[in-house]
Amino acid sequence: MLVCRDIAGIRAAVAAYRAAGEDVGLVTTMGALHAGHMALVAAAKAARDRVVATIFVNPTQFGNAVDLEKYPRTEAADLTMLEAAGVDAVFIPSVEEMYPPGDETIVETIKLANMLHGVVRPGHFRGVATVVTKLFNIVQADAAWFGEKDYQQLQVIRRMVRDLHMPITIHAVPTLREADGLAMSSRNVRLSAEDRQAATVLHRALERAATLAAGGATVEDMRAGIAAEIGAEPRARLKAVDIVAADTLAPVAGPPDGPLAIMLSVAFGPPAAEVLLIDQREIGK
Ligand code: PAF
Repeated sequence: MLVCRDIAGIRAAVAAYRAAGEDVGLVTTMGALHAGHMALVAAAKAARDRVVATIFVNPTQFGNAVDLEKYPRTEAADLTMLEAAGVDAVFIPSVEEMYPPGDETIVETIKLANMLHGVVRPGHFRGVATVVTKLFNIVQADAAWFGEKDYQQLQVIRRMVRDLHMPITIHAVPTLREADGLAMSSRNVRLSAEDRQAATVLHRALERAATLAAGGATVEDMRAGIAAEIGAEPRARLKAVDIVAADTLAPVAGPPDGPLAIMLSVAFGPPAAEVLLIDQREIGK
């Protein structure tokens, strides 16, 4: 597996694949890889001749310096996992390589970036769209894979690719779950044993909403069903439940008249050191 730390190196590798008539899939990551990332790699490998992965902890999508500093960096383990999964080349740039001195260009999906999670994390989706644009321009892959778990991020990237006519196909991979339904996340290891067990409530709440939807319930009924399910778990604190139109993320009400996405945030543990888990489910798609 080729490891490139500069733009010229990864471009040369991709150019060689293309010269050999091979197509290229891309998986962008911030490292600290887990099975969810590896599902993206497996999907890319199944579909394309060559797979490039990127590892870059992108400073512009973090709200504060402490968060950025605390973000886990596990490069050696990440490279072992990527190599075992058959990735052909990994791009691991420095901050200076990605954001050269004087860098001032941003990419922003004005509406999608500034609603829902974008309201509590101002600038986050602008940072994501900007760095993903840079990575797409650097690697020039044919297709890229993103997880459905980060549902708003996925919609931002889809919209950006459509609006800017980027020549890349975006694929979504369903959320990978533990046997008991908990969505895989690098945050799960921070849960106490009791909270880990209690955290299955996110999945149960989304299932309950899906069952209600199948029975013709309104959006308000679904929201109440989710609140009741989370409320019945004393260790869980419901932070947000957003039920929105699946593509535009616009708020919806009453009986659904198109595909919906439910985005759920629930906190566990002491408020000063709480672990915030998110999960999502599409309905009617
Ligand atoms: O989902 C992530 O890991 C990041 O937001 C991404 C897409 C790699 C951009 O930094």
